[in-house]
Amino acid sequence: MSVSDCRILQLPVIPDERGNLSFVEEHRHIPFEIKRVYWLYDVPGGASRGAHAHKRLQQLLIAASGSFRVTLDDGKEKRSFFLNRSYQGLLIPPGIWRELDDFSSGAVCMVLASELYDPEEYIRDYQEFLEFSR
Ligand code: TYD
Repeated sequence: MSVSDCRILQLPVIPDERGNLSFVEEHRHIPFEIKRVYWLYDVPGGASRGAHAHKRLQQLLIAASGSFRVTLDDGKEKRSFFLNRSYQGLLIPPGIWRELDDFSSGAVCMVLASELYDPEEYIRDYQEFLEFSR
């Protein structure tokens, strides 16, 4: 997988003067079954998250509130996305190193994941990641 396989998906929007609504359905708007949902919040200014890759996990990252930057790296090339729309999701296939930073105040990063949590499935060492990606 390469950073060119990472892309922004436009999710449905139901505009409403009472407040807009967006949604995601597995296999319809995203190409995987959703086994887990988690979210990052109360991120202090200047903090960064991530700094790892996954061997099998696919994810969709959504800026449910506020904004943040996601820097992706396939071992050869880097690509950066700034997420700030609640109706967009960043699709990240397996084997991509990611770092999240530049969180706005009140930002919420919601993550839809294709696998249950499994620490064995993480690559947390960058040199190991470079070997894995070759
Ligand atoms: P981690 O994925 O390393 O967070 P980040 O990459 O955003 O810095 O997870 C941080 C901690 O939370 C780690 O101890 C594992 C735990 N965790 C779970 O128990 N379940 C989960 O679904 C996730 C994502 C993390």
